[in-house]
Amino acid sequence: MNRRAQFATRMGVVATTVGSAVGLGNIWRFPYEAGSHGGGAFLLCYLFFIFVIGVPVISAEFVMGRASRSGIIGSFRCHSGSRRWDWIGYSSILAAILILSFYSVVAGWTMEYTCESVIGRLGDVADDARHDRFDGFISGWGSVWWMLVFLLINALVLLGGVKKGIERMSNILMPLLFLILLVFCVNSLLMSGVAEGLAFLFSPDFSAITPGVVLGAMGQAFFSLSIGLGCMMTYASYFSDRTPIVKSATTTALLDTLVAVLSGVIIFPAVFSFGMEAEAGPRLVFEVLPSVFGRLSGSDVWSALFFFLLALASLTSTISMSEIFISFACDEFRMSRRTATVLLTLIAMSLGTLCALSFGPLRDFTLGVKRFSTSLTMCRATYCSRSAEW
Ligand code: PHE
Repeated sequence: MNRRAQFATRMGVVATTVGSAVGLGNIWRFPYEAGSHGGGAFLLCYLFFIFVIGVPVISAEFVMGRASRSGIIGSFRCHSGSRRWDWIGYSSILAAILILSFYSVVAGWTMEYTCESVIGRLGDVADDARHDRFDGFISGWGSVWWMLVFLLINALVLLGGVKKGIERMSNILMPLLFLILLVFCVNSLLMSGVAEGLAFLFSPDFSAITPGVVLGAMGQAFFSLSIGLGCMMTYASYFSDRTPIVKSATTTALLDTLVAVLSGVIIFPAVFSFGMEAEAGPRLVFEVLPSVFGRLSGSDVWSALFFFLLALASLTSTISMSEIFISFACDEFRMSRRTATVLLTLIAMSLGTLCALSFGPLRDFTLGVKRFSTSLTMCRATYCSRSAEW
């Protein structure tokens, strides 16, 4: 008898798949990528890849996972009738572990910034000291500590199982996340730079569409939808036979895109209102935004809420990355869920520690010519272009 767990409700299906898709990619990465690639031009290419390639690929992953009722390796075996494609599954599991390791480091940063805001220490920093503060934090042991705490929380949810852990957590966190986003949106739309910010995001300058912008938008779209890694396939193995495939795929893509666009709507008007740079890159959220919040009344509440939002979004995504390995270890080696979770957490903690320290004490330790954290990020980039080949 097939005793595989199943999501209990349709709301659970949407909350978990959207939870996987919505993450740092939408709220941290999308605004800085759009900011440094011309705003509207990037958005246009991004939408093209989400709907023309993304939705069909999510649907395909859903079909494969639901029909085989197994994780990535089992799905490929079931549909090809041979072990010839196992390597795709193994490379996806490896990529998921590597992405989980660096993703948890950045998620740890969002937890540190949430706590600093709650105790009122983020608002006090002068604008020109923010860069050094951020650098000081990411290069110290504090970032390792927060990554470990984040991975422990991740493990606790995973230990709860598919229905009581993952589904229940997503059912609570996703509505909360949308609520916080809406509060920020209303606040941003009341700012003086709203017209300039929205024009930057929504009026594409077609001459800005270069091969680099197209490639960046493609990688961003695939990463944001969590496709090509077996994540959606693994979640679909917990769908019931009645779960609608195309409708669920389209809903996931629409809500994921909505969060990315709303993040732009929150960030750009705020950035333009106070004459800050939209092209600040990965530091946009950690340096520029706290300066923006510092100019609002109740600045610590705004920044605590914003970084809490980022931490929540990160958690629902890391859970889905972790499930790829857990489902594989349970199916393939008959491991208990608890053993698989502990094993994965220990591996991610070890790699995450190397990644976090590569911004500080291990700065000079390289793999080839790249720092450890850069190598993990490159793995993400390779995964994005590999998903394009799928
Ligand atoms: N989609 C997530 C984000 O936007 C990242 C992710 C990638 C999650 C791959 C699972 C698998 O942040």
